[in-house]
Amino acid sequence: MPYTVPKLTDYSEAALALAAGECLDACKLEADAVHTETELKTFRDRWLARKNGILTQINDLWLKGAPKEAKREAGIRVNELKMRVTELVDGARVSGASDDSLAAQRVDISLPGVRRPIGAEHPVVKTRNEIVSVFQKLGYSVAEGPVVETDYYNFEALNFPPNHPARDTQDTLFIAGQQSKPQRERLLLRTHTSPVQIRTMEKMPPPIRIVIPGTVHRNDPPDASHSPMFHQIEGLAVDTNITFGDLKGTLDHAMKALFGPTVKTRFFPSFFPFTEPSADVQISCIFCGGKGCRKCKDSGWIELLGCGMVDPAVFRFAAEKQPGYDSKKIAGFAFGMGVERIAMMKYGISEIGSFFAGDMRFLEQFA
Ligand code: PHE
Repeated sequence: MPYTVPKLTDYSEAALALAAGECLDACKLEADAVHTETELKTFRDRWLARKNGILTQINDLWLKGAPKEAKREAGIRVNELKMRVTELVDGARVSGASDDSLAAQRVDISLPGVRRPIGAEHPVVKTRNEIVSVFQKLGYSVAEGPVVETDYYNFEALNFPPNHPARDTQDTLFIAGQQSKPQRERLLLRTHTSPVQIRTMEKMPPPIRIVIPGTVHRNDPPDASHSPMFHQIEGLAVDTNITFGDLKGTLDHAMKALFGPTVKTRFFPSFFPFTEPSADVQISCIFCGGKGCRKCKDSGWIELLGCGMVDPAVFRFAAEKQPGYDSKKIAGFAFGMGVERIAMMKYGISEIGSFFAGDMRFLEQFA
């Protein structure tokens, strides 16, 4: 039952004290039960409203109706009560701790928890890191360069002259609206990581041993083994007395580190404008061990990367900024491999598109 102001018939000191005590207790109880702003306002109005608030009622019922001889005593009591009630009302807070507010915060420990899945490396990132670490152990450091590249770094400085047909082998995605610029400044999406060879040599004199992981783009229609966006890892070693034998030994070691010690490598003549001589590297088929199967088209070999000795023309471009790249004094080799292609071989994946489709059922298998 909510508190209501009683009429007083007995104005003795004891009766006044009892009535005042009951009123104060009721006010305390109600103050503790305030949980919201609306409740606080209702509580305030109920006690302090000038028109018909409890204090006004007390004034009317207890003071005005008091017999003359009790008026003084009643007045003192009522004033004191008013002060204390006002204090209580002013002190009441929404947070006014009560058992109910604790109950609202109670946690049901029998409910299932919130699952926060831990992320994992994407298989392409995982393979990239693995390849990079094979070369880091050989003393190579990591270099990187921009994905949006100039014609100069992507082609010209790599000995692809303007209009040279070798440019056609790298179906290039050009940035639109560059026609007003000189050709060498026009922007494109780099078609390989090789431009970072030049960028790094311009910054650092020889000797140099770097690997360059990165994203590249080609205007290829997507199919099981082609994606317009993919990743490469480039290698470059420049020093005095670097030979084709060093290149063969380095790549043979790297392939064994990546695919197991029984894997064999072989080198075929090839062509890249920025290497001379150039070679394509094949590894013995990791699926059939070289006996011949569907994957290696019964040849026992799988082609995996391109490489060669750095062409003196490339050193001439680098020497414009770093005279140390003098092909009479130094030599170097370079190689480039596709990360997805190696990941597909290592994990037996048949569609390059699976890497980028974002299907968790596929990606979770590499976690
Ligand atoms: N950049 C070449 C490509 O993408 C690969 C390559 C790199 C070949 C370095 C030789 C040396 O086809």
